[in-house]
Amino acid sequence: MFGSHVQLKTDDQIRAMRRAGLVTRAALEAARAVCVAGNTTRDVDAAAAKAIADAGATPNFLGYYGYPATVCISVNDTVVHGIPDDYVLADGDLVSIDGGAIVDGWHGDSAFTMIVGGPQHADPADQRLSDATEAAMWAGIAAFATAQRVGDIGNAIDAYATENVPDLGLVEEFTGHGIGTAMHMEPEVLNFAASNQGPRVKTGMVLCVEPMLTAGGIETVTLEDDWTVKTVDGKRASHWENTVARHAGGIWVLTEEDGGLAGLAPYGITPVPL
Ligand code: MF3
Ligand code: CO
Repeated sequence: MFGSHVQLKTDDQIRAMRRAGLVTRAALEAARAVCVAGNTTRDVDAAAAKAIADAGATPNFLGYYGYPATVCISVNDTVVHGIPDDYVLADGDLVSIDGGAIVDGWHGDSAFTMIVGGPQHADPADQRLSDATEAAMWAGIAAFATAQRVGDIGNAIDAYATENVPDLGLVEEFTGHGIGTAMHMEPEVLNFAASNQGPRVKTGMVLCVEPMLTAGGIETVTLEDDWTVKTVDGKRASHWENTVARHAGGIWVLTEEDGGLAGLAPYGITPVPL
């Protein structure tokens, strides 16, 4: 084994990444606010774009390998990388919004899932799917706090899903990743337990933890547009993601306002802001 090429950040660099994380969060919240019945997914994309521009930041998805929008909006049976278009949102749609911003050269990346129209329009199965995916993400993030190997994160996500929602599908084809001066950097962060436990966790690592669950099988298909990833069986899917730093004092969830305080509490982990 040759040394890994993981970019390790200083505390000051993590503080800079926090600014990108907060702009990313603001963009996602702006998108959430207009993710309502009657609006198109393009309207939602425009709100995220405006929030990033208003912050004086740059979207990292736009133009990434030719990606044509600011955020990915993945509706119902789309797992990830849905392209905003003229689709008109309807109450009860299960929508994942994934986006990121660059501030002073540092990247943020985050995703969440919501149900259009809120709980009163939600199919309980969709709410459960989203809640389980979010919880699997937090289980993975909590594991990063004490992990010796990056693979400990995938082990925790897998264990959460296997123990709590064995009927749901845990997608293996797409992974989390390192992040820093680029959106996608080493290491790969698997969402499942694998024999390769990955590189050693080091102080200064910043990772995106981003599990995807489906209401059925884990087989996916990429459409002709070369982006949109759907479930083969047509079942619905959820995707949640945060950018998380590990520093000498602990972990800090850079893309959450509260640094991960609420999400990590059930796992007995307290995030440590810098
Ligand atoms: N945000 C996705 C990820 O979590 C990547 C989106 S690909 C893009 O890794 F082209 F849309 F940017
Ligand atoms: Co990501």
